[in-house]
Amino acid sequence: MKRVGLAVLAVVVVAAVAAALFFFLPASLPDVPERTVAERQDPALVERGRYLTQAGDCIACHQAPGGEPYAGGLAFDLPFGTIYSSNITPDPDTGIGNWTDAEFVRAMRQGVNKAGQNLYPAFPYTAYAQMSTEDILAIKSYLFTLAPVKAEQEPNKLDFPYDQRWAVRAWNLLYLPDGAMKPQPQQSGEWNRGAYLVEAFGHCGECHTPRNSFFALDKDQKFAGSVQQGWKAYNITSDETSGIGAWSVDELTDYLATGHSDGHGTAAGSMAEAVSFSLRHMSREDLHAMAVYLKSVPPQASEVDAKVDPHPPGLDGATRYSPPPGELGENEALGLRVFQGACASCHGWEGSGVQSVFAGLRGAQTVNDPAAINLLQVILKGGRLETEHGVETMPSFAAYSDSEIAAVASYVLGHFGGKQVQISAADVAKARQPAVQ
Ligand code: HEC
Ligand code: HEC
Ligand code: HEC
Repeated sequence: MKRVGLAVLAVVVVAAVAAALFFFLPASLPDVPERTVAERQDPALVERGRYLTQAGDCIACHQAPGGEPYAGGLAFDLPFGTIYSSNITPDPDTGIGNWTDAEFVRAMRQGVNKAGQNLYPAFPYTAYAQMSTEDILAIKSYLFTLAPVKAEQEPNKLDFPYDQRWAVRAWNLLYLPDGAMKPQPQQSGEWNRGAYLVEAFGHCGECHTPRNSFFALDKDQKFAGSVQQGWKAYNITSDETSGIGAWSVDELTDYLATGHSDGHGTAAGSMAEAVSFSLRHMSREDLHAMAVYLKSVPPQASEVDAKVDPHPPGLDGATRYSPPPGELGENEALGLRVFQGACASCHGWEGSGVQSVFAGLRGAQTVNDPAAINLLQVILKGGRLETEHGVETMPSFAAYSDSEIAAVASYVLGHFGGKQVQISAADVAKARQPAVQ
């Protein structure tokens, strides 16, 4: 018996030491030889890195409002605290100026910082881990051509045990992909290019895929739609009713390239940012490849989305005289009046947009979603989309009362989407609350 006891003790000790080594020793470095200065600064590589940095939309998170590009400091409000993005300019003290190539590859592949500590997955390294080593190094080459900015990273404010960075290692065991993405030989070259750009760079799933209880993307519901910071990132699977199954590849390409597709509306909220900073700078060829890949993602029906109706009764041929206000109930009349005074000059009555095609609402998911999630957000926060002709903007109407906003939202859903739902003042009050992810 004594011998069995000793054997058990030995196993326990070995397991404990192994666990301690695994969790507390700095993560090992990948075998990436340091490039020479000439190799690092090769202009063709820097240019490719610039394109890929934009495709990965690093700036969306690594610039605080009013701050310098790539200097970090953007706050992420999570249910268990706040974390801040890092300075990724080449400043040697507060940025990544003295990171080696191997350290940078490790950060992108494993989510580990220079000191060997784990980074939080708010940094979407589970997507970037799928980039090729050459592409990661191209991004580093580009980042190192930026002007160094001195900006100390704000310390995170996290509750225990979420402030324990090592705990992320256990999470990585479950959710970190196994290295760079491998091409699927049975698919076309275009499909493979699209898959690589969507998955490893666009990190579309970070917003469009629901999360499980460990805060990881739920693979079984890939791209089925999810609410992020108060905005709904719609279902972008090929489901005919609630996804993009009815969109053609060209329509999808237009939407990614410009933020607008005729008959499908215009990107607002964080999607307008993704288009403004990242997608619209990509080549048409690459965006087409991404659309081809997206159309192949298996359909997932989502319960909350209602079918988009591009021809609801009363929309075709509507003018400012229709419907006559006399036939409406009190709340509908209020909605119509607010629309007339605050919205019609840009959006018009029949859904194609008066100010510009970007204000076209016909066929948009936002005017068909009976939960009015993005509709209330865009009315409260306004919109901003960069286009090749300049910036398209919509002002915020947060100064309007909850009942006025509720009435105009109900009117918009009925008139532009054919959805007869009553949005209440309480819904608007709730939408005004700051969103936690
Ligand atoms: C969705 C938001 C988001 C995007 C997009 C993003 N990052 Fe980050 N990144 C973060 C956050 C947040 C941190 C800090 C994480 C932490 O402290 O644990 C971070 C940390 C880093 C770090 C570690 C820096 C350090 O000093 O430890 C590197 C390197 C980095 N990001 C590079 C990139 C690159 C390159 C891209 C684009 C390809 C990118 N990030 C895109 C959110 C983002
Ligand atoms: C930061 C979050 C975020 C990221 C990243 C993101 N999206 Fe979106 N996306 C949204 C939101 C929010 C909407 C809804 C926009 C609106 O209300 O107009 C949206 C809307 C869309 C739509 C329109 C769907 C419809 O039915 O109207 C498409 C298509 C789309 N996204 C594709 C993509 C692709 C492809 C990527 C990756 C390259 C991506 N998105 C990355 C947040 C995001
Ligand atoms: C100054 C012109 C202007 C006014 C006034 C205006 N909008 Fe907009 N709106 C736009 C533009 C341009 C867009 C597209 C750009 C964007 O989404 O940021 C847009 C987008 C939208 C969208 C689509 C959002 C999405 O998630 O896809 C809705 C819905 C909308 N507006 C409703 C309204 C309502 C309701 C009012 C009145 C309370 C209003 N707008 C007033 C210009 C305007």
